[in-house]
Amino acid sequence: MDKRLLSNRVKVMPESATLQMAQMARDLKAQGKDVINMSLGEPDFDTPEDIKDAAKKALDEGYTKYTPVPGLPMLREAIVAKLKRDNNLDYNINQIVVTNGAKQAIANVCLTMLDPGDEVVLFAPYWVSYDSIIKIADGVPVVVYAGIDQDFKVNAEQLRNAITNKTKLVLFSSPSNPTGSMYSKAELAELADVLKDYPDVYIISDEIYEYINFDKGHQSIASFDFLKDRVIIVNGMSKGFAMTGWRLGYMAANETIAKSCIKIQGQFTSAANSISQVAAAYALNHGIYPEMTKKFKERRDVFIKLLKDIPGFKVNEPHGAFYLFPDISYYFGKSNDVDTITDSVSFAEILLKDAMVATVPGTPFGAPDCVRFSYATSIEIIEEAGIRVKNCLKNFR
Ligand SMILES: Cc1ncc(COP(=O)(O)O)c(C=O)c1O
Repeated sequence: MDKRLLSNRVKVMPESATLQMAQMARDLKAQGKDVINMSLGEPDFDTPEDIKDAAKKALDEGYTKYTPVPGLPMLREAIVAKLKRDNNLDYNINQIVVTNGAKQAIANVCLTMLDPGDEVVLFAPYWVSYDSIIKIADGVPVVVYAGIDQDFKVNAEQLRNAITNKTKLVLFSSPSNPTGSMYSKAELAELADVLKDYPDVYIISDEIYEYINFDKGHQSIASFDFLKDRVIIVNGMSKGFAMTGWRLGYMAANETIAKSCIKIQGQFTSAANSISQVAAAYALNHGIYPEMTKKFKERRDVFIKLLKDIPGFKVNEPHGAFYLFPDISYYFGKSNDVDTITDSVSFAEILLKDAMVATVPGTPFGAPDCVRFSYATSIEIIEEAGIRVKNCLKNFR
């Protein structure tokens, strides 16, 4: 093959680990194997009926054309109202950009703000795509790792130590994918206090799991007045409204950043899907669908108990999202008669092969001691998965 066929940009980019595991699980399923797929990052619920009805109505009303790049005014207004209602944050519609999923919002911001060599402080464990998006935008990820002993949350000292004169952005999610951890107001205040000293550093606050939080209440780092202008809130419909396929996200930022993101998006993809936008406006005006969150919490409780019962697993108690991210490093170096677990990747491969449970290894999340289980599935399946994992690992000594 011609050496010059592909760009270096794509050559150095890893395949999405989550999609890879999902594909392996699908392949095994196609062979008739009884695979439990806990690798996916999406709610198992269908989109609520009333949101679907809003989309059907949008079609009938002729929302079938290009919309303005930053989104339909009615949706941008609904987002402004949501940010006021849920987060007590004041924005105007010129600060809102509707995107093709939250993923595009993050890409917009990185492409808009990063020059080659600019550093992005990335809290690890991190969502797999952050690292690649930063690199596509010629940025340099500076990873700050917080392990299970600190509930996977970066502290003020770690943040301060990571900032250099090349730092342009800080990027994290709360609630977090892959850990489910959530920063409290006090924890965010400590981080904000550090950022007070670095007025040229901006923050991407990925709040896509905002509505899937169980008891502590979601907090945004944009709620600190002195920082708000430097925070880019990223959010979307995929998780809280079970709308992954609708590809609808949004961002809220100062007008200079928002305007530049609209410019970038206008050249890449134009506006998000018109029908999804009308449905999203309806959903955001309606607000949270608490039934889904209640179910996720029940499942979390069941699954934590099961995983805690497996020898060697260290499990934290996440307050949001729908993942457990146990530290499984106890098994590194252990063998059954056939295989040896050497790292999180071989751990996940063996679970898939022997227990028929698909997970995602922690390595691509920047956490090589861990593995991610998604519990966006029924309690019966969660219980079956717990049994299978425990039985499989019993043989490793
Ligand atoms: C932390 C985080 N941010 C963003 C996204 C992307 O969401 P969207 O479907 O809106 O592009 C995901 C999806 O898995 C995610 O986990």
